[in-house]
Amino acid sequence: MKTNKVVLIGTGFVGSSYAFALLNQNLVHELVMIDMNVEKAIGDAMDLNHGLAFSSPMKIRAGAYSDCRDADLVVITAGANQKPGETRLDLIDKNVRIFKTIVDSVMESGFDGIFLVATNPVDLLSYATWTFSGLPKERVIGSGTILDTARLRYLLGEYFHLDTRNIHAYIMGEHGDTEFPVWSHATIGASSVGDLVDLTDPQIQSDLQDLFENVRDAAYHIIEKKGATYYGIAMGLARLTKAILNDENSILTISSLLDGEYGQHGVYTGVPAIINRQGIRKVVELPLDETEQKQFTRSIDTLKHAMSTGFP
Ligand code: LAC
Repeated sequence: MKTNKVVLIGTGFVGSSYAFALLNQNLVHELVMIDMNVEKAIGDAMDLNHGLAFSSPMKIRAGAYSDCRDADLVVITAGANQKPGETRLDLIDKNVRIFKTIVDSVMESGFDGIFLVATNPVDLLSYATWTFSGLPKERVIGSGTILDTARLRYLLGEYFHLDTRNIHAYIMGEHGDTEFPVWSHATIGASSVGDLVDLTDPQIQSDLQDLFENVRDAAYHIIEKKGATYYGIAMGLARLTKAILNDENSILTISSLLDGEYGQHGVYTGVPAIINRQGIRKVVELPLDETEQKQFTRSIDTLKHAMSTGFP
């Protein structure tokens, strides 16, 4: 029987939380953990294995890059993370060098699966992984705005006192300060947001803008309080893993290379996409309104500028 094998590179807060999510959701048959701190990877594997009595069978161990050869998925969370006051784009110089070493080591194993990138700035590092690996764009996926979209859905659920799972609303663009909400396609149940509230009401407009700003700035607030974010992104990575390994054809807002979609080329950014066992089946092109189109263009320009200055 084809088993699901994931290699996780980076067992810091995000990576170890992701591994914990995989174990609790019974998503994979085999998890191999790699970290430059080998003792940490071994310790995490030992700790997780001791939870197997409460879960389903799963092979968990610390390993090496050679383990990537027959992996279905290589998930990269390794790299420096934001410190208080740092933007995600500030991390590009140090993390792109780390990624060159990581991706080269993975490809030397003969890996021919799917990359899932979470390290920030995730849009630029997804582009770097695609470039360094030479894999087709469909098989290099960034976590993108999957967490931002989850934050938006949570806060809209709180605002309307409704189950988050009944909220369908997307954040697109950079996973960062230039991301934007696609209000024109936000639905709650089968109703549009505009059916439920008067979008011309100044108080409603203020409420929704405040709500979006809490989404956009959530990581800064969490980092100020606890030093890092990891549970939300780990759950988002687990959701993506499930959509891929279970061949779901689910629509998730991930970071994908745009190759003509939305009139853009040569950049990774957060867009809704259909995800299945082959990776990205298709980028979903939403008809953005004038405001959203301007915000998308601003986000793309920001990412392309960062690429022009931050890449070796
Ligand atoms: C955050 C990190 C994953 O938004 O960028 O929490």
